[in-house]
Amino acid sequence: METTQQKFITLHDKQFSIFIEEKRILSAIETIAKKINDSYKDKNPLLIPVLNGAFMFAADLAKFLTINCEFSFIKASSYSGTSSNGTLQEKIGLSENINGRHVIIIEDIIDTGNTLARLVPELELQLPASLKLCALLHKPEAMKADLKVDYIGIEIPNDFIVGYGLDYDGLGRNLRDIYKIV
Ligand code: IMP
Ligand code: MG
Repeated sequence: METTQQKFITLHDKQFSIFIEEKRILSAIETIAKKINDSYKDKNPLLIPVLNGAFMFAADLAKFLTINCEFSFIKASSYSGTSSNGTLQEKIGLSENINGRHVIIIEDIIDTGNTLARLVPELELQLPASLKLCALLHKPEAMKADLKVDYIGIEIPNDFIVGYGLDYDGLGRNLRDIYKIV
């Protein structure tokens, strides 16, 4: 199936231009998946994608994983409009017990790192066997938190982006490619 890709799109009041194409996204995800396949063989890791943004990344990553693994989604958000406001706004907690499990948190993007900086200590209270962080995208210049990101797909400059799960006030999550604000 072919979909025609647009070079420019408008969401609400803002214009965006094509930035990272689907092909490059999928190749970055395949690279991450290979590392996870190598490191977690026989460990049955529990992958915890952070909703809403990570749904598309989680789905495509899952398809490249060949090892036994489990998924359990949580919901956290600290973004409104085009900037992180630093407070964790909504949350659907974890239904799984992660004690003794090998856990990988799956994020669409790590921007300031505030979301994970709040989430990680909470999860660590349950004493997982290991806890690693995996993000499709990372904005190193925006990072404020002291976090080690174990698996990174693509590093990007500090620009607001949409598509492939990421939204601008609710819109843009369905786009196959990633767009950058103009
Ligand atoms: P952080 O807490 O600042 O690291 O922000 C993390 C969350 O904010 C991500 O999981 C995204 O859902 C959202 N976010 C960060 N940067 C962007 C962006 O450029 N576009 C859309 N959402 C973003
Ligand atoms: Mg997110």
